[in-house]
Amino acid sequence: MYLNREEERIYEGEEGWAYQIAMRILVKLGDLFGADRLIPIDSAHVSGVSYKTIGDAAIEFLEALAKAGAKSKVRSTANPAGIDYSHLEEMVNLPRLRERQVRIIELYRSMGINPILTCTPYYIRRPREGVHLAWAESSTVIYANSILHSWTNREGGPSALAAALIGKTPNYGVHKVENRQANVLVKVKTDLRDEAEFGALGIHVGRILKDEIPCFEGLLKPDETQLKHLGAAMASSGMPSLFYPCVSCPKISDKLEKLSVESDDLKNAFESLSTTNEAPDMIFIGCPHCSLEEVKQIALRIRGRRVNGNVKLWVCTSRYVRRKTENYVKIIEAAGGKVISDTCAVVTWLKELGVDVLMTNSAKTAYYAPTMNKVETIYASLDQCIEAACRG
Ligand code: F3S
Repeated sequence: MYLNREEERIYEGEEGWAYQIAMRILVKLGDLFGADRLIPIDSAHVSGVSYKTIGDAAIEFLEALAKAGAKSKVRSTANPAGIDYSHLEEMVNLPRLRERQVRIIELYRSMGINPILTCTPYYIRRPREGVHLAWAESSTVIYANSILHSWTNREGGPSALAAALIGKTPNYGVHKVENRQANVLVKVKTDLRDEAEFGALGIHVGRILKDEIPCFEGLLKPDETQLKHLGAAMASSGMPSLFYPCVSCPKISDKLEKLSVESDDLKNAFESLSTTNEAPDMIFIGCPHCSLEEVKQIALRIRGRRVNGNVKLWVCTSRYVRRKTENYVKIIEAAGGKVISDTCAVVTWLKELGVDVLMTNSAKTAYYAPTMNKVETIYASLDQCIEAACRG
């Protein structure tokens, strides 16, 4: 990969160890994937923030970078952590876990990474169309490419951090226009009613297509929430970082490989996301973190009702959205639900909270929780989740 003189100086360590290691990560990645050069980025979004998922070795690396004076060169944000410090009564409250989690957040902050602790940074600041980003967190990446029309590869935590420190990313993958073409036309031959069915579609298509880029035919005016669930699910069971929601251009679609999705495919994918018939201990809504509209919809459904004492209701969103929806948050909390920020059911210590059965309207959570959290799952629509929360 070509480096200019300034980049070479950094590569050789003339700007210090932290920038040298960051540059070396980017060059290694660029060489591996055939990048020609580094390109400037508008922002970085870093994952690897929850102590539950990264552990002590990663903290040592972050300590070393911070000590060596590492600072982000571009606007940078961080994904959810393992604890919401405003709801400690809801969290696993062990002093060591708390202390370690605080340390991670402080280390990111000291490097100029804004600890907004959300996987939906685009609800706080929407990047412009066509800008290059270095974002980690698969649901965030696929949303950025497909809905916001910004351009980012699916970064890992270390490569997003390295890009933040250098302010650049290697030019490969979906940063290149020729790699952003759809290669499979997915013909959806059944009507989708809600976000959970969009999630089931995403799981089905992701399993089949792996990293190919689909465009969809037959989605009837999907809204951004439904597309968020479709993308997050597809990026969980597969590796795509981009999809095209609607196709009406026969010139493109004629050339593409075709995949038909029938109602049975959707039903099977939906059912595969539930592992038990037992009653849930927790209902979790907000993976990816809720938008203003989603918080509103939950409040409207639960207004005047009461969450059953046998079950917890968690609604996860960013602090920004929580603030903006204060009146709806009050309705949800008056009903006995909790509107949690900074974390989610997947990246916190769920099992230790006494949760054995998790019910959710998120296909991504239902896909990962049995392995990542060792819990049984029930996959259902938002309406069914609210009903179950009130019924217990
Ligand atoms: Fe976000 Fe947690 Fe889901 S980080 S995408 S809410 S698993």
